[in-house]
Amino acid sequence: MDHFTYRNGILHAEDVPVPAIAEAVGTPFYCYSTATLTRHYTVLEEAFSALSPLFCFAVKANSNQAVLRTLGQLGAGADCVSGGEVRRAILAGIPAERIVFSSVGKTVPELEYAVQENILQFNVESLAELHMLSDTATRLGKTARIALRINPAIDADKDVGTHAKISTGKKIHKFGIAFEKAEEAYALAANLPGLKITGISVHIGSQFTSLEPFRWAFPRIIELTTRLKQNGLPIDSIDLGGGLGIPYHEESPPQPDIYAAMIREFVEPLNCRLILEPGRVIAGNAGILITSVILTKHTGEREFVIVDAAMNDLMRPSLYDAYHEIIPVTAATNPEDTRLLDIAGAVCETGDVFARGRLLPPMQAGDLLAFRSTGAYGAVMAGNYNTRLLIPEVMVHGNAFAIVRKRQTYDTLIGMDEQPPWLA
Ligand code: LLP
Repeated sequence: MDHFTYRNGILHAEDVPVPAIAEAVGTPFYCYSTATLTRHYTVLEEAFSALSPLFCFAVKANSNQAVLRTLGQLGAGADCVSGGEVRRAILAGIPAERIVFSSVGKTVPELEYAVQENILQFNVESLAELHMLSDTATRLGKTARIALRINPAIDADKDVGTHAKISTGKKIHKFGIAFEKAEEAYALAANLPGLKITGISVHIGSQFTSLEPFRWAFPRIIELTTRLKQNGLPIDSIDLGGGLGIPYHEESPPQPDIYAAMIREFVEPLNCRLILEPGRVIAGNAGILITSVILTKHTGEREFVIVDAAMNDLMRPSLYDAYHEIIPVTAATNPEDTRLLDIAGAVCETGDVFARGRLLPPMQAGDLLAFRSTGAYGAVMAGNYNTRLLIPEVMVHGNAFAIVRKRQTYDTLIGMDEQPPWLA
């Protein structure tokens, strides 16, 4: 459930009419709903009440500091995958003792920074990283708490039910320490200075709409954890990553309580603290992208609506063929008068098409459209292709709204270029 609904035929974000935001901010822009973020976080918290896990929000899904602060104030921690994300989380008020740091390629400066901040846990993804982290922590006179991220090694040809580009738990993937190497890696970790083993972690991919991949992967990790504990390793926490899908279109992913019941069944016997890294399930449906129609054109074959957002603002359709529901901000007055439209951006790429053949009312220049479910992996994946400016992000809270990220300016963007001395 979200808080983007029509009132008197006008799309509202909570109590704010979307056209009022568009008027104040210009288009395109992302718009986040505080009530929806809060609701999604609370529903998860309630579903998992028996285990009271630490929910480390996957910052990669939406790293806006207003989003992070909203979630942090509800008690969320952060799952970060770069030094930049750790900085954002800390600046947004999320305490270091609630931050985990995953990444297959943490650099020495990133490790140094996170060690100095004394974050909760490094999810270490290779033997080489164990050595790098041990050296870094020792040099700084600190101890780094670690979990090893284990790749459960799902067979490459097994269909895990999500897009190939967002699946991470197969043998062919770069993520985590190979399942068969886990014991060797823990033995090494136990002997390296500057490291304190505290846990184990796993993350198998994203946008799962069935529990089956989890049911396949988690028991392997649980069984491994039991064995490691029996061998005397101090594994006090288990981090089961993120990955629960959301309804973008016709999917019906498992409800949080069903997901929680499955995890409880696996985790309870272990007697470990549970950490989860949900991203999309919290932020995905808490955001919409608002764009306006620049013009319409008929190619002879198709009827195109060209909008002022483009693939650089929302990559998901062109990158993963992702479906985002597209709705008019002013509801259609005459439902018979709809037509099949292709919605595209202005970037010079054939792939810059958001959707084909959507049933919409006739569109004209200036009309507003909303792309639903763009609160996760939307703004964070945007870029400047075609020298297009990064678009603003707005947060709504009841009847108030605020810009939580300014529109980039040409001066900032183009001003980053420097001329070499021989051209100056
Ligand atoms: N933990 C780790 C280690 C991850 O790599 C991810 C996502 C998450 C947690 C959060 O997963 P979630 O709960 O959001 O599914 N850009 C793609 C999604 C990439 C996901 C990468 N990792 C998309 O737009 O669908």
